[in-house]
Amino acid sequence: MKRKFLLLLVLLAAIQPLKADEGMWLPALISQRIADMQAKGFKLTAEDVYSINQASLKDAIVLFGGGCTGEIVSNEGLLLTNHHCGYSYIQRHSSVEHDYLKDGFWAMSRKEELPNRGLTVSFLERMEDVTDAVLKGYKPSMTEEERADLVRRNSEEIRKKAVEGGKGLRADVEALYYGNQYFLFVYKIYRDVRLVGAPPSSIGKFGGETDNWMWPRHTGDFSIFRIYAGKDNEPADYSEDNVPYRPKKFFTISRAGVKEGDFTFVYGCPGSTKEYVTSDEVQYVGEVSDPQKIALRTLRLDIQKKYMSQSQAVRIQYSSKYASVANAWKKWQGESKGIAKMKTVAAKKDYEKRFRAWAKGTRYDGLLDKLEALYARRNPYYLAYEYYTETARTIELLTFANAVRTNLRNPDAKADAAATFFKDYYQPIDEEIFVAVLDAFNKNMTDDFKPAYFKEKLAAYGSLEAWRDDLFARSVFTDREKVLALTEADADRVAKDPATELYDAFYRWYYDTLRPVINETNQQINLAYRDYMQGQMEFEKDKVFYPDANLTLRVAYGHVEGYSPSDATYFYPVSTLKGIIEKDNPDIFDYNIPQTLRDIYAEGGHDDQPVCFLATNHTSGGNSGSPVINADGNLIGINFDRVWEGTMSDIVFDPDVCRNISIDIRYLLFNIDKIGHASYLFDEMRFAD
Ligand code: ARG
Ligand code: GLU
Repeated sequence: MKRKFLLLLVLLAAIQPLKADEGMWLPALISQRIADMQAKGFKLTAEDVYSINQASLKDAIVLFGGGCTGEIVSNEGLLLTNHHCGYSYIQRHSSVEHDYLKDGFWAMSRKEELPNRGLTVSFLERMEDVTDAVLKGYKPSMTEEERADLVRRNSEEIRKKAVEGGKGLRADVEALYYGNQYFLFVYKIYRDVRLVGAPPSSIGKFGGETDNWMWPRHTGDFSIFRIYAGKDNEPADYSEDNVPYRPKKFFTISRAGVKEGDFTFVYGCPGSTKEYVTSDEVQYVGEVSDPQKIALRTLRLDIQKKYMSQSQAVRIQYSSKYASVANAWKKWQGESKGIAKMKTVAAKKDYEKRFRAWAKGTRYDGLLDKLEALYARRNPYYLAYEYYTETARTIELLTFANAVRTNLRNPDAKADAAATFFKDYYQPIDEEIFVAVLDAFNKNMTDDFKPAYFKEKLAAYGSLEAWRDDLFARSVFTDREKVLALTEADADRVAKDPATELYDAFYRWYYDTLRPVINETNQQINLAYRDYMQGQMEFEKDKVFYPDANLTLRVAYGHVEGYSPSDATYFYPVSTLKGIIEKDNPDIFDYNIPQTLRDIYAEGGHDDQPVCFLATNHTSGGNSGSPVINADGNLIGINFDRVWEGTMSDIVFDPDVCRNISIDIRYLLFNIDKIGHASYLFDEMRFAD
């Protein structure tokens, strides 16, 4: 009996998860984590991960555009990221004759690679603690304004010095831990980045909104680009004479595959987290903001979906708009549910009670009361602001009216705005959303949190329906020809258009009434957090605090692992092509795979073709496209999502359910070969096995 029990214990220990994998760490300080990483299986050194003296993994990673990550996989600047990160560029190259979004795109030679105006990739040259230099000249007697001024001046000087003599350099000084520490980040920015390949959307977006933020997942969410440089390998504007960029470092690809328990390391640029906030902030997010915004977005999504299901043309017009509304909508559902399940508000309240007791007589005494008072003042204004952005600002006609007005003097820009707007505009959707969101605004905001214009007009019309009918009938902005005919001479008419008027009324109300209070309180809140952060570090001397995400390069390490989303359910961590075939259904848009994929599958032998996998890495928005690296430092996947039950990890990490989702690198290779017939690309890649 006892032996059996012991055996069970040993077995349990063996299959127990390797322990919480919370944290997104600064690469420059990775020496503080490397022992833990190595204990969990990593075989490389701190210098291999980040070094300013020799080529290291960080030199193979870029910030892709303004909010994704990408990684270099060849000596000739070949770059991988997500399909959803390359989406807008693929879309811009698409036309009725060449629908690259629908059919995919594969350059068959360097000459066929497509340039992308405005797309840049940023390599991190170095990062450095500059706290002392930023605070040089600081005296405790200074007011906050004086301190802020000093920080601004010193940072400016540090930035200027950092980019001196370099080509294409940009330097940022970022506050970490709410300004307890400052880091300099120096980037080299390349601006000739060309599209090399993308799968058809039925692979790259397989599962669409249905599967977004979910497991089991089978999305081939990748696209391929190439960085070009001048002959000197330095950044250059697009030119036919440019040559493929020669990286300091590129990733070796492992085809050995992943299994539960394998070490994984995501190296990329998470955008924003708030792990150290008070219970008030968590309560606001989880119990007020998220639920209310979800409800407001549900109204819009239901209306869009209704019309999209009635017409193929409308579905095409609105699929991208729908996707962007639905993405955060679904994330917030997981976040607020996760916060509730973790009882984070209660846990933080308890923590704050202990902090308060500890803080008695220290400089942190009274700090939490101050934060509480600041939130009490800010939150009604902030909620009104969020209502504004999720209601009045979502009426397409109003934002279009404003865009036209701003461009009245600039006929080309105006024509551009009009072309983009009308191409994807379906007025019945906008009209219905007008009534739905303004009704929600009217019902849920108290009278003192409504623009006077809104109240007056609504009273005068008697109903939102009557207001809508009149506004859409009278506004010039519903008519393409009339919009194109507008000139500077029509400025007055444009300003008095009912759409512009409504846009302005809301904007002015936001600007004059909400913004000042929000800005002032947020500033105070941030200041208080600077102290609270320091207080928490003193209060919990043994805890290691990683800085909140801010789109700078971070290391998150963990391991491949499934999870149990609910009672009696367990999700295995690896999905395969078999699962795609199980979901395949020509009648369901999100699950309608290309016929070629069906044919390939029918050949047989592809049942076990891996597609995606789950791991415990702590990631966030911005980590899309990040390299997923194995114990040997080789590339095994590309990160693209999290499971929705774990999206509260931006606020609180639950090792039981927080999982990131990656595309298995072998599915990308499969697509290049079998779907794109572009296996020539393998010649420039390096494989470990
Ligand atoms: N949820 C992923 C990320 O935030 C993917 C988003 C794009 N895909 C989609 N189906 N909307 O941002
Ligand atoms: N899809 C997200 C992105 O675009 C990553 C998912 C997440 O939030 O973890 O960055």
